[in-house]
Amino acid sequence: MVLDGRLCYGGDYNPEQWPAEVWEQDVELMRRARVTLVTVGVFAWSRLEPAPGRYTFDWLDRVLDLLHAGGIRVALATPTASPPPWFSLAHPDALPVTADGVRLHHGSRDTYCAAAPAYRAAARRITGLLAERYADHPALALWHVHNEYGTTCHCHHAETGFRRWLRDRYRDLDTLNDAWTTSFWSQHHSDWAQVSTPRATQYLPNPSQVLDFRRYWSDQLLAAYVEQRDLLRAATPTVPVTTNYVLGDWVPVDHARWAAEVDLVAIDHYPSDAGPAVEEQIALGADLARGWARHGARHRVRAGDGDLPGTHGSWLLMETAPNPTYTRTPTVPGRMVRHSLAYVARGSRGAMFFQWRASRGGAELFHSALVPHAGPDSRIFREAVELGGLLDRLAEVDAGVVEAPVALAWDAASGWALQQRALPSDRIHHHTEVAVAHRALRRAGYACDPVLPGDPLAGYALLVLPALYLADDDTAAWVRDHVHGGGHVVVGYLSGVADEHARIRLGGYPGAYRDVLGVRVEEFHPLADGEEVPLTGGGTGRFWAETVRLAGAEPVDAYAAGVLAGQPAVTRHRYGDGVAWYVSTRADEDTYRRLLDEAARAAGASPTCPDAPPGVEAVRRRSPEASWLFLLNHTGAAQRVPTAGIDLITGAVVEDAVTLPAGGVAVVRERAGA
Ligand code: GAL
Repeated sequence: MVLDGRLCYGGDYNPEQWPAEVWEQDVELMRRARVTLVTVGVFAWSRLEPAPGRYTFDWLDRVLDLLHAGGIRVALATPTASPPPWFSLAHPDALPVTADGVRLHHGSRDTYCAAAPAYRAAARRITGLLAERYADHPALALWHVHNEYGTTCHCHHAETGFRRWLRDRYRDLDTLNDAWTTSFWSQHHSDWAQVSTPRATQYLPNPSQVLDFRRYWSDQLLAAYVEQRDLLRAATPTVPVTTNYVLGDWVPVDHARWAAEVDLVAIDHYPSDAGPAVEEQIALGADLARGWARHGARHRVRAGDGDLPGTHGSWLLMETAPNPTYTRTPTVPGRMVRHSLAYVARGSRGAMFFQWRASRGGAELFHSALVPHAGPDSRIFREAVELGGLLDRLAEVDAGVVEAPVALAWDAASGWALQQRALPSDRIHHHTEVAVAHRALRRAGYACDPVLPGDPLAGYALLVLPALYLADDDTAAWVRDHVHGGGHVVVGYLSGVADEHARIRLGGYPGAYRDVLGVRVEEFHPLADGEEVPLTGGGTGRFWAETVRLAGAEPVDAYAAGVLAGQPAVTRHRYGDGVAWYVSTRADEDTYRRLLDEAARAAGASPTCPDAPPGVEAVRRRSPEASWLFLLNHTGAAQRVPTAGIDLITGAVVEDAVTLPAGGVAVVRERAGA
C-alpha cells in the first residue's frame, strides 16, 4: 500500500519557494483539505546543494517534520531534473546538444545530457545523500525519482552511448547495415565510427536510424532512473519507488516497458480543451497508465512483488492541473472533482496535482494550484476541500480492479515509426488511431485495457490493433495464435506493414496478418485533406483507403464511389476457431462505433452499464469481495441510471436507480450479484 488504506491526495509542494511562516500555513491548509500525500523537492537541487559539495538539508528536515506532525505523507523527489547553475558551468560537456548541433545553456530546467558521465555522477551523489538522510523519516511514503524523463541529446557522450547500444543490439556492422537498409542513398557504414545520431540533415533521414535513436534514449534514460532507484532501494527496501511519466508523441520513453522497473506507474496528465473532449483524453490517459501498469507487473522480476502498490494494474495520477488556465482554456467550476474521480474510476490510487501553492514568480507563475494566488478564500480551494472529503470516503475502491472485456494494442515503437516523414500520409499516427478506437469503444460503453504485443489475452473477448505499424515475427504469431485459438480481433489499416526495423513486409500489406485476415492489400490510397469516400453501409471513410483483395475473407462494407467503388473497405474472416476483421479506412465515428460494438458483441463482450444514458460514463472496479460502479455525468442535465447498492458519494441507499445531478458523480458499491 502507498498510504495504509487512504487514497493519495495532494500534489507538488515547493516549500523552497516560500519563507518558513508559509510552511506552517500550508500544513494547516493541507489538513483542512484532507491532503494525504505531497511531492517535495522536485526542483530543489540548488537549495539542497547551493555550491559543489556544500549541503543545506536543514530546511528540508524541518519541512518533513512539519508535514509529519500534520499527518501528511511525503513522496520525496530526487531533484535531478534541474541541476544547479554551478553544475552546468563546471561541466559544459554535460549540457545538451540539439539535432542542429546547438549546445543549450542553463536557464530553464532539464538542461543536461543524461548520457554525460558528470551528470550521472552528480545525480547519484545527491540521490545517495537524500536516501541516507531520509531513509528513516516517518513521513516518507514514496520515492519520486527525477521529473518527467524525456530529454534527448546529440553530444559526443550521447553518440558514443548510441554506438555502444547499437553494438549490443546488432553485434556487427553488417547486421546494422542490413537492419537500417543503408544500401539506400549510399549510407553503408564500413566502421562503427561512421555511425552517428540522426542529426539535422539535408533531406529525409533514415527511418530505421531515427527509430533506433528513440529506442536508445528510452533505454539510456531508463538506466539513469534505475541507477537512482537502486540507491534508494538499497537504503529503504520497503519504500516504493516511482518516476512521473510525461505523455506525448515527442517523448522517447517506452512507458510500458519501463513499468517493470517502477513500483508504481505514475503519470502526469494535462488534457486540454483543444482536440478531443477532455473526458475522452482523461479516459485514454488513465487507461494507458493502467495498461502499462498491468504490463509492468507481469514483467517485474523483483521478489515479493505481490505486495507492491502497482501490481494489479493500479497506478497514480501524479500531476494534473486544478484549473486549465495554463493551457489558456476556460475555467469550469466543479469540473476538478468529476475529472479527478474519472481517474480514480479507471484505477488511479488517488488524485495529485501540480501544484499545491501557486508560485509568485518563475517560469510557471500563472500555473494553477490548489491554493491559488488569491489564497484559500477561493473557489478552487473550496473545491479542493470538497475533493479531499470525497476521496476520504472512497478509499475502499482502491481494492477494486477495473473490469475490461476489450484489449487495445499499444506500442511505443510503432508510434515512433509512424512519425517518420516518408509515409504516404502524415495524418495517421499510432497514438491517434489508438485514441480513435478508444473513443469508439468508450462511446459504445466498453472498457478496454491497453496491451502490448505478446501480453496474455486470456479474459479479453476482443483485441483491437489500431495502426500497430511494426510487427516482428513474434507479434505476428501472437495475433495468429490468438485468433486461431478462438479469439476475435479487429485490425486497422497500417498495422503489421513493417518489421521491427521499419522495413516493409513484402508480398502485399499487411504482411504480418494477411493469412489471419484473409485479405491482401495491393495498394494504398491516401485521401486528400477534406476528401471523404462514401461507404455502401451508409458511412464515410477519411484520410486513408486501400485496394483490398479478398483471399478468404468476406466483405462487410465497401467503398461506394471513386477509384475503389465496389471494392471491400471492411472485411471479416473466420480463421481457426476465431474471427478477424479488417478495417481499411478511417470510418466516421458512428460507423466505427457500430462496427466495434458488433465485433465486441459477436465476441461475447457486453458494455459496462448498458442502460447508462449518452454522456454518462460508467466504469466498474471489482475485488473478490465487492464491486463499485462509477457513474460520471458529463452532461449539463440530471441523468437517471438504473443500479442498486450504496452511493459512497452521498451515503444514500440506491434501491433501483440513481439520479446524478448535472456534472455529478455517483460511486455505487453494488448490491451483491451485480
Ligand atoms: C509538468 C511538470 C511540472 C509542471 C507542469 C506544468 O509536466 O512535471 O513540473 O511544469 O508540467 O503543467
